[in-house]
Amino acid sequence: MVKFENISKTFPDGTVAVDEVSFTAPEKMLTVILGPSGAGKTTLLRTVNQLVHPTSGKIDIDGVEVTTRNLKIIRTGVGMIFQQFNLVGNLSVLLNVLSGSLGTHQEWWSNLYLFPKTYRLRALDLLDRVGLIDKVYKRADELSGGEQQRVGIARALMQEPKVLLADEPVASVDPMTSQGILTLLKELCREKNLTVLCSLHQVDLALQFSDRIIGITDGKIILDEKSSILDMEKLKNIYNTKTQGLFFGPATESIGDPAVINWDHMN
Ligand SMILES: Nc1ncnc2c1ncn2[C@@H]1O[C@H](COP(=O)(O)OP(=O)(O)O)[C@@H](O)[C@H]1O
Ligand SMILES: [Mg+2]
Repeated sequence: MVKFENISKTFPDGTVAVDEVSFTAPEKMLTVILGPSGAGKTTLLRTVNQLVHPTSGKIDIDGVEVTTRNLKIIRTGVGMIFQQFNLVGNLSVLLNVLSGSLGTHQEWWSNLYLFPKTYRLRALDLLDRVGLIDKVYKRADELSGGEQQRVGIARALMQEPKVLLADEPVASVDPMTSQGILTLLKELCREKNLTVLCSLHQVDLALQFSDRIIGITDGKIILDEKSSILDMEKLKNIYNTKTQGLFFGPATESIGDPAVINWDHMN
């Protein structure tokens, strides 16, 4: 469980990226942070493991406040996956996954056989779970984007986290692959009692895969609803002008046009 209490982040140049955000993301649920480019999604996710230090506010993970004193311990409980996967391309899939346990094995990181057997077995088990057991000795950069993201997920799970931060995990893969990755994340959060916080800019994917949607624009929450009671029409009608930013926010990053919605998916 991750509890955000009045979290704000103002960067030194004066940009207010996150503005008084409060909500609690429970375990076994995929909570989507939905918003257009520049809304503050990445900044908000990064406050959880303090890659970004909030200017004010408080974050608790399972009732323990994240502070500079317990940051190391907190970070081992928080896994992260990235838009660009961030794998080491010239290393094997298996070594990339094993590197997820590096907190404790830094000096061994490029030699497979220096990792304890229990770790190697855990990595293989995770690779089997994400559907890549036949690719373990391939170089990471020989895999497709979707496969690389699956490696990223397995790597994040190596440290047996309580929380998984997924920052635009499907921004670099095709629509079919996106569905597979998000399905996997949803299954894993149930199986492994994870609290998954996943940022997305696509409204249709958020509606289809999340348990709950936290909509943000300009760093502020403008929507907080269970996805089961939402559909595209409700989103547009009930919230009216308030949610316009989710559909028509400014596109300032190269991750695709946030205003593009695949209406074909909606009945
Ligand atoms: N290090 C930084 N310094 C100054 N402004 C930043 C920095 N990082 C992000 N921003 C700004 O903060 C806002 C939110 O950015 P970000 O969290 O990356 O949004 P999103 O992930 O939703 O696209 C944007 O206006 C962005 O330009
Ligand atoms: Mg971002």
